Amino acid sequence: MSSYAKDLVAQCIDIAHRTNAFSEAEIDVLEEVLRDWAVSKGKEYRLRLFFDDQKVGGFVIFGMTPMTKYAWDVYWIAVDPELQGKGIGKSLMAQVEREAVGQAGQAILRIETSGKSTYTRQRSFYKSCGFEEKGRIEDFYQLGDDLVIYAKKISRA
Ligand SMILES: CC(C)(COP(=O)(O)OP(=O)(O)OC[C@H]1O[C@@H](n2cnc3c(N)ncnc32)[C@H](O)[C@@H]1OP(=O)(O)O)[C@@H](O)C(=O)NCCC(=O)NCCS
Repeated sequence: MSSYAKDLVAQCIDIAHRTNAFSEAEIDVLEEVLRDWAVSKGKEYRLRLFFDDQKVGGFVIFGMTPMTKYAWDVYWIAVDPELQGKGIGKSLMAQVEREAVGQAGQAILRIETSGKSTYTRQRSFYKSCGFEEKGRIEDFYQLGDDLVIYAKKISRA
């Protein structure tokens, strides 16, 4: 891995830590995914970054869902806590949409998230980006913690 890629990975992990939104296990998986991205650059996972004064201020990781024609999964999105609420998350999601729809003229984006009350902000973020709740599996992550599926269908204007 190049030292530039190593530095980007470290900055993304640092942001994820500081959001306090992820468990240690989730951060470990995130690190694996970022390392995978660093060596295979976009094969399975795409990473897009928002830079604030040459430092990473936010990132999104997404990729085409295998065995589909135009479906995509958004796996991770995080913005530096000091920069949240300024539209950065929305602009990262807009970038995902542009790339997804640019490839096939249409796209379905899927996001899986937690139904916990501590994730209320995340769910309002997805709704404000135009995602709709399409399904819920009760107690999926653990008792009292549902899996909530959000989706958004888009086509080229
Ligand atoms: C979710 C997250 C990426 C949003 O990024 P952000 O840059 O703060 O979001 P934006 O400033 O683009 O806000 C977009 C919308 O989100 C919603 N939102 C933002 N902050 C909010 C808050 N404190 N409470 C409720 N809704 C909020 C608003 O509806 C806003 O829409 P508006 O522009 O119409 O007001 C960011 O809060 C984050 O990094 N959270 C921790 C990591 C995480 O949980 N990621 C998701 C799981 S992978």
